[in-house]
Amino acid sequence: MADAYILGIESSCDETAAAVVRSGEQVVSNVVFSQIATHQPYGGVVPELASREHLRAIVPVVRKALADAGHTYQSVDAVAVTQGPGLAGALLVGISYAKALAFALDKPLIAVNHLEGHIHAVLLEERRKGNHELRFPLLALVVSGGHTHLYLAKRQDDCWSYQNVGHTRDDAAGEAFDKVAKLLGLGYPGGPIVDKLSTRGDPYAVRFPASQLKHRDRNDRGNAQTYDGPRFDFSYSGIKTAVLRYVETHNLQGSIAERRKALSAISQPKLEDYLLHCDKQTLDLVASFQRAMVEDLAGKTLAAARAYDIETLFITGGVAANQELHQQFENDAAKEGLSVYFPSRPLSTDNAAMIAAAAYPKFLARDYAAMDFSAEAGMVLK
Ligand code: KG4
Ligand code: ZN
Repeated sequence: MADAYILGIESSCDETAAAVVRSGEQVVSNVVFSQIATHQPYGGVVPELASREHLRAIVPVVRKALADAGHTYQSVDAVAVTQGPGLAGALLVGISYAKALAFALDKPLIAVNHLEGHIHAVLLEERRKGNHELRFPLLALVVSGGHTHLYLAKRQDDCWSYQNVGHTRDDAAGEAFDKVAKLLGLGYPGGPIVDKLSTRGDPYAVRFPASQLKHRDRNDRGNAQTYDGPRFDFSYSGIKTAVLRYVETHNLQGSIAERRKALSAISQPKLEDYLLHCDKQTLDLVASFQRAMVEDLAGKTLAAARAYDIETLFITGGVAANQELHQQFENDAAKEGLSVYFPSRPLSTDNAAMIAAAAYPKFLARDYAAMDFSAEAGMVLK
């Protein structure tokens, strides 16, 4: 089979991204336009603003991805785009543009599930390193700002299929990082700064109770009913409330308001700026929060790995960039004799290379999308 160059397009949340990937294994170009600056004043992604920014960015981002790759619109073999899950208006921008391109150029159009993209980011990374051997059964933890899922991933010939064996019943793990950071006046997005500050605090200073799955599963979109093996669900709204209680009972509101004001006056605060405005109590709280998140994510994933006799773990999505999480999984996997793989940092947060990589098996199978397919905000991965 000759090489196939796939143009990937991703616009499910707050990154407008385009990339060219050769045969699911070489990132030829990877352009990501982040909207963080637009959403920062609001402490989270504002859907209407996200759609507007995607509209502005999509054409230059795709042009740059082609130019960086030394390709033209005509020279790519297929166009792949994220169908869902994500923000409906944001997804539609990428989908409409991809459809127009595929139609005008008479190229195959491939629709990709964003979560499958995150899983293929790991495969892309491993193929890039020349590792073509994978041991099965394989369990993937997809952990980001919008998702916390555990999937058993299967491969038959070149086709992949997935079974959900765990998901969050309320907040996603990245959402908890973002909400706690916002609560403590640390700005948005919270994950990267919590990651850095945690190394400066005592992770055992504050004990958070283990998460309990008491409430109804508000994120169940039919996954749980269709699969009756053991489940390993997550819940992160409780820890966010526990941090809020700590703030209230320790009267931290005043110092948080001062920190928020001081940091918002700095256009791009550096680690030293954050440290200057964080006392020991806050650093300990941040470190303890991260410790609790890492223990819960790793604990449940390892329990699922044991239950399903797993040989290989994939840890992927924005939160997979977390240093402590990385370390914890490396240690746990070594103890249990598991292989564990992560994407590189640029491939762990949202990007289009992972979409082009996930499209490659579909390209080989000629699994093309019809021109009338639409965005699926709550799309399930199967
Ligand atoms: O995969 P992603 O870019 O977008 C979604 O599909 O949601 O993930 C973004 C999320 C945000 O919640 C961000 O705070 C979190 O990933 N994140 C991190 C780190 N870097 C990004 N969380 C913890 N530690 C990090 N180093
Ligand atoms: Zn994502």
